[in-house]
Amino acid sequence: MKKKTIRTGIVGSGFSATFHFEALSKVHGVNIDVGGVHSLDVESGKAYAQKRDIRFFDSLDAMLDEVDVVHVCVPPVAHEPVSVAALKRDKWVVCEKPLTGYFGDGSDDYHWDKLDKQVALDAALASVDRIIEAEAASKGRLLYGENWVHIPAIQKEREILEKTGAQILWIHGEEAHSGSHSVDYAYSARCGGGVLIGKGCHPLSAALYLKRVEGRARDGKPIRPATVSARAHALTRMDTFRDEGHIRCNYYDIDDFSMMHVEFTDGTVATLFASDVVVGGIHNWLKITANNHRANCNINPNTAMETYNPVEANFEDIYVTEKIETKQGWACTSPDEDWFTGYPQEMEAFYRTIAYDAPAESDLLLAADSISTIYSAYLSTQRQGAAVEIKTY
Ligand SMILES: NC(=O)c1ccc[n+]([C@@H]2O[C@H](COP(=O)([O-])OP(=O)(O)OC[C@H]3O[C@@H](n4cnc5c(N)ncnc54)[C@H](O)[C@@H]3O)[C@@H](O)[C@H]2O)c1
Repeated sequence: MKKKTIRTGIVGSGFSATFHFEALSKVHGVNIDVGGVHSLDVESGKAYAQKRDIRFFDSLDAMLDEVDVVHVCVPPVAHEPVSVAALKRDKWVVCEKPLTGYFGDGSDDYHWDKLDKQVALDAALASVDRIIEAEAASKGRLLYGENWVHIPAIQKEREILEKTGAQILWIHGEEAHSGSHSVDYAYSARCGGGVLIGKGCHPLSAALYLKRVEGRARDGKPIRPATVSARAHALTRMDTFRDEGHIRCNYYDIDDFSMMHVEFTDGTVATLFASDVVVGGIHNWLKITANNHRANCNINPNTAMETYNPVEANFEDIYVTEKIETKQGWACTSPDEDWFTGYPQEMEAFYRTIAYDAPAESDLLLAADSISTIYSAYLSTQRQGAAVEIKTY
């Protein structure tokens, strides 16, 4: 079969725009012509374009004239406007996580701690509704950039569920590290909340996805989340926090530790942790306890390769693994971190959907359920962990 060619544009020129471009270069099934980049930061956008020999567009609209797909690699506050603008022009959208959220009232003294989380939940769901309406009216579709869905270990678990008809009883997971690099991340007005949304969305979306797969495989309909109980804390904003320089601690108004207890409509559960207080590199894992098997999906770290380095300077030019403080001693060196993280598999899957109409594993409805669960969880934190019902899509 002759490969189709798809024209693509990137919005944003920071961290995620970089790994999106890398992953696009590894797609096999489709020819991808990356036509250009648009970024609010003109200097970094031009440098990004020059490095990759692509065009810099100074407006989103101008780039939309030239492409079939846009990658939304901008802070969460801009996800809805950029995605809706592209869908209105009948373009496909690859939107980074989280889909959307609530970003404050625009006032100078807006602060997450003082916010009534019911306001955030209502506004986030209204934003989700607007994106769903835009997709329904478009010839394009939104693909949800939740790489955890495409992680090889999670896709292997999908195969086990589909072939054995397993019932998952408990999903236990975590995403954590010592703090995001992003300046915007310190402000709920840019990111829609703190670690519960920023990192919690990853294990949550994987759990929602696997319960969907389970229900579809056994009974022809997905199993959905029903209620959530949650707690969130701002450990590095406490007066008692003792900073020794290893953990980022300059957040303005966000939570940096959270836990969600999700109950599904079949009565089974997921317990999901997210934090910005863990040293030693990225700590991402999901454990599945089912009625006929168990699975530990070790995403990062994992023991595919272990190295021992007696002298720090030896590994000066060696990439070991993300966010590790030292390269000396034993380390779980990742031979191909992007592969274990699911980035190339995610792009391969998305472009097969765009070019050949292959079913999408990570779509707008999964993203919508994730946002609904997250903001219901934030409402639960305000009620000291009382269970809150989740609206599903
Ligand atoms: N899936 C993952 O593993 C992963 C990892 C990191 C970040 N992310 C997500 O990627 C998104 C971006 O995060 P990042 O780390 O790349 O941030 P970043 O700060 O590194 O880059 C953001 C870029 O967006 C540009 N920008 C901001 N608003 C814009 C707008 N309205 N129009 C055009 N450009 C705009 C900025 O100039 C900057 O170049 C976030 O939603 C984040 O949650 C996902």
